Amino acid sequence: MEFGDIIARRKMVRSYQATAVSDETVLRILDRARRHPSAGFSQGIHFVVVIEGREQLAAAAQEEDWTDKGYGPWLSSAPIHIAICADIGAYRDRYAEFDKSATTDDWDVPYWWVDAGAALMLLLLGAVDEGLSAGFLGVHAFTDLPSILGVPDGVRPIGVVTIGYGAHDPVAGSRSRPRLDTVHREHW
Ligand SMILES: Cc1cc2nc3c(=O)[nH]c(=O)nc-3n(C[C@H](O)[C@H](O)[C@H](O)COP(=O)(O)O)c2cc1C
Repeated sequence: MEFGDIIARRKMVRSYQATAVSDETVLRILDRARRHPSAGFSQGIHFVVVIEGREQLAAAAQEEDWTDKGYGPWLSSAPIHIAICADIGAYRDRYAEFDKSATTDDWDVPYWWVDAGAALMLLLLGAVDEGLSAGFLGVHAFTDLPSILGVPDGVRPIGVVTIGYGAHDPVAGSRSRPRLDTVHREHW
C-alpha cells in the first residue's frame, strides 16, 4: 500500500471481527513499531502483547459502561492488545552517559511521552499496512493497568492499542468532522 493511502486509511477503530491475526503479522507490526525514534536513542519504549489476558484488560477498562451505552464491545472484540510502556529510568540512565552528561529531571517536555507517541503511530500505521485496523485506549481509561501488566517500578504504560480486522464502528469520528487549520506560516 502507498504510504499516503496508509495515512489516509488510518482511523481509530473500536470494534473488530472475530477473525484471528497470525503471529507473523503481529511480529511484523511490532518489528516495524520498534524502529520508532527515541530521544538520545534511549530505547525506553516497551510493548506488552496481551492475548490471553484481554478479558482482564476489557474489565479494567470498564467495557460494560461502553456496551451499556449501546456500543459493541471494544477491547474484548480485538484479538490483539499491545500496551505501550515508557521506561523512564532508561532515559535517565542514557542521559547520564558521558556524551550527554545531562539530567532528565528538568525536562519541560519529557521525551519518553514523545517517543511513546511515535511508537503508537507506527503501530497504528503498521496495522493498516497489514490490512488491519487499530484503536488506542489511553491509560486514564483503565483501573490499575501497571499492576495488571506487571510492569516494574519506574515503567509507565501510556495505554493499549487494539488490533484486528475491523468491524463496523459507529464511533469512528474524525472522518465526519472538518480538521482545524493547525498549520501556521512563519509564526503562529
Ligand atoms: C493520546 C491519545 C489518547 C486517546 N485516548 C482515547 C481513549 O481513551 N478512548 C478513545 O475512545 N479514544 C482515544 N483516542 C482516540 C482519539 O479520540 C482519536 O484519535 C480522535 O478522535 C481522532 O480520530 P481518528 O484517530 O480516528 O482520526 C486517543 C488518541 C490519542 C492520540
